[in-house]
Formats: sequence, structure tokens, C-alpha cells
Amino acid sequence: MTLGDKGNGQGLAAQQVFGPQAAVYATSKVHIRDDSLESVERMVDAANGSNRYGWTVDLGTGAGFTAFAVAGVSDRVIATDVTEPMLRQAKRLGAERGIANLGLSQNAAEALPFAEKSIDLVTSRVSAHHFRDFEKTLDEAQRVLKPGGSLLMADSVAPEDDAITIWMNDIELRRDFSHIENRKISRITELLTERGFTVVENDYPRIYLRFNEWTARTKVSTAETEALRKEFLQAPAATREAFQVAPVHDDIAFSWPCWVFRAVKG
Ligand SMILES: C[S@@+](CC[C@H](N)C(=O)[O-])C[C@H]1O[C@@H](n2cnc3c(N)ncnc32)[C@H](O)[C@@H]1O
Repeated sequence: MTLGDKGNGQGLAAQQVFGPQAAVYATSKVHIRDDSLESVERMVDAANGSNRYGWTVDLGTGAGFTAFAVAGVSDRVIATDVTEPMLRQAKRLGAERGIANLGLSQNAAEALPFAEKSIDLVTSRVSAHHFRDFEKTLDEAQRVLKPGGSLLMADSVAPEDDAITIWMNDIELRRDFSHIENRKISRITELLTERGFTVVENDYPRIYLRFNEWTARTKVSTAETEALRKEFLQAPAATREAFQVAPVHDDIAFSWPCWVFRAVKG
């Protein structure tokens, strides 16, 4: 692993948000284990039976939890991220867990330092909505995967309703200025199809969050936290229903819809 800004300008906002908070993400319950990670594990097992993947690359690895989850079915897994302090956390936690086949690379998901047709599995969990250029990321996954290789992504998605989608992305951006976009499943499917991917497996878990911890993780100011709290509590009924918004004591429980898919490169 080399240090410094290897993001080629793609992830500067992400580095600013995630760099100082890397240790917090390393202990975040929702990142360590949730339904989306279980879906990822199920899909890699189901896809490969008793076989193993050769080379796996995890994009936007953060503290490495998805890379660790696929290490057991891969000969070699490379955890990649644009934010160097995140990779340090992944390195530390990987060593603690005794993961011997883990490599690290500081790079943007939009510029993968791997040869074309060299990778068997590309994974990414709760990261893609931060990628500045999602289409370029898909181009890169398509380029580096071997024919028949799998792209396995798990991420929050926007509902198909335009107004609710706008609300969600506005809230996300105010809570985290490195947020780029939660996309509709229909749009992601179009982008995959344009690149010759075929979606062969789907799962639709929810990402369950608590407002107080969620805003604290990105250090939202007190004034903006209170403004966001109002947005949740006073959102239109259809929006509250879409995100299962429920006041709990002095906190708010809510959930984002998530899509986990495995797509095969033709
Ligand atoms: C929520 S964390 C990832 C969580 C992790 N995948 C897991 O399963 O626990 C999002 C990560 O995306 C990274 N990131 C943001 N933009 C990126 C980009 N353009 N390329 C690569 N990584 C990026 C951030 O640095 C951060 O570490």
C-alpha cells in the first residue's frame, strides 16, 4: 500500500469525510455486520459452490468488512479505497482476524490498477453511492473482469418515485457532503445492461439506521442535525412510509432500501 492521494481527483470529498472518521467506521455495527453483508456472503457461496474465486477486488472497502467476508472464497482479495486511513483500518482489522490473503490498494473505483480480464469477482458494499462517477466504475469493473466473472454490489437505492428519490438524496447530501447519488434500481439495471452484464441474483434487504448515531458518524453540526430531524419527522406520509420512519424516545429509527445483485459479465 502506498500513501497519499491516489484518487486521481475522484474522491477528494470522500477522503475529507472518511479520513478523519475511519476509526468510527471500523467499529460501526451497521458496517461490521448487517443483512446486506449476509446477502453478499450467500451470493458468493451460492454462485461458486465448492469452487473458489481466484482474484477478488473489493471497491470502496472502507474498514474492509466486505473484503474479509469474501476472503474465505477467494485465493487473493484486494481491498481498494480512495481514503488511506480507511485502508489502515482494513489492514489492522484484517491482521486481527488472521486474514492472510488480503492485499490493499489505494485507488478510486473509477480508475482500477488492474489489467483487463484479470479479475474473477468485483465486490462493493454501501460504497457506490459515494463514487463520483458510477458509470466509469461500471466501465472499469467490466474492463477488469474476466468473461463470466461476477460483479456483486450491495448499496442503498432510491425508490422509483421521483419526489421520494429527490428527498432521499437531499437528506443524504446534507448529512454527508461526499454523498453523490442513490440511484433507482431501474437506472442501475439499464447501466448494467448497456455494459453487457446480466443480473443473475437479487436480494432486497433494508439498511436499518438510528438518526442520532447516523448524523454523529459524519459529524453533522448541531443546527443541521436538528433541521434534518425535522425533515424526517415532517416528511410526507409516503416518504415516511418508504423509509419506515419511526420516532423512538429522543431518536428516530428509519431504514434505506438496499439492492444486492450479482451480475455476470458476458
Ligand atoms: C461506507 S464506507 C464503505 C463500507 C465498506 N464497503 C463495508 O462493507 O463496510 C464508503 C467508502 O467508500 C470510499 N470511497 C468513496 N468514494 C470512493 C471512490 N471514488 N473510489 C473508491 N473509494 C471511494 C470511502 O473512502 C469509504 O471508505
